[in-house]
Amino acid sequence: MKILIIGASGIIGKPLFESLKKEHEVFGAYRSSTEYPVDTRDTASVRLLLETLPKLDAIINAAGSAVWEEFDLLTEADYYVGIKDKLMGQVNLVHTAKEFLNPNGSITLTTGILADFPEPSSAGLALVNGALHSFVMAAAPQLKNNIRLNVVAPGAIKGSIEGEELFAGHAPVTIEAVIDVYKEALLGSRTGHVLKIY
Ligand SMILES: NC(=O)c1ccc[n+]([C@@H]2O[C@H](COP(=O)([O-])OP(=O)(O)OC[C@H]3O[C@@H](n4cnc5c(N)ncnc54)[C@H](OP(=O)(O)O)[C@@H]3O)[C@@H](O)[C@H]2O)c1
Repeated sequence: MKILIIGASGIIGKPLFESLKKEHEVFGAYRSSTEYPVDTRDTASVRLLLETLPKLDAIINAAGSAVWEEFDLLTEADYYVGIKDKLMGQVNLVHTAKEFLNPNGSITLTTGILADFPEPSSAGLALVNGALHSFVMAAAPQLKNNIRLNVVAPGAIKGSIEGEELFAGHAPVTIEAVIDVYKEALLGSRTGHVLKIY
């Protein structure tokens, strides 16, 4: 399979890239990449990248952030950071990517545990994660050519938070287990699903 991973230098994206490249042809993209630079906040940049790559069988996005801030300090501008980056970056990616995928291809997005379980500073992330879950449910049945669309919602990745305390009330999850869920989205037949691991 030819697979594009956006966010391929990150806590999730890098080990996912390393794992998938053992069996597939994988292209790793992120903003500061010299080989495959892309910024999902900018549709033109996504289109430019996709035009330089061969037709793909799968696109996995593990990029996009939102403002982490105490509720009383969150501003409207803070919310729009996450809406522009993690939410619309991924929504626009689906609209653009579907033209560049082979029939029976797949798109996998990333959200997280904060869609379901709160932390004191999580409203900005919860807003976009929840919106993405609804988006995937509604958009997946509309995709043509048997293209599948799913979203992986991981808990905190073990080792990426201070200590081993509970995050949003749940124990951290191993990156190996999270990679298996991305592989399920990639290789399975499900579409329109939120694949939760926490
Ligand atoms: N880490 C966790 O415990 C965890 C748990 C649940 C969910 N998540 C979610 O999973 C996603 C990835 O998290 P992570 O911890 O792996 O993040 P990370 O370590 O900060 O890595 C983010 C990756 O995405 C790239 N990137 C960031 N913004 C981008 C943009 N607008 N366009 C293209 N590339 C971009 C980064 O490289 P450049 O900066 O060079 O672009 C990097 O490759 C996030 O949405 C996060 O909320 C993470």
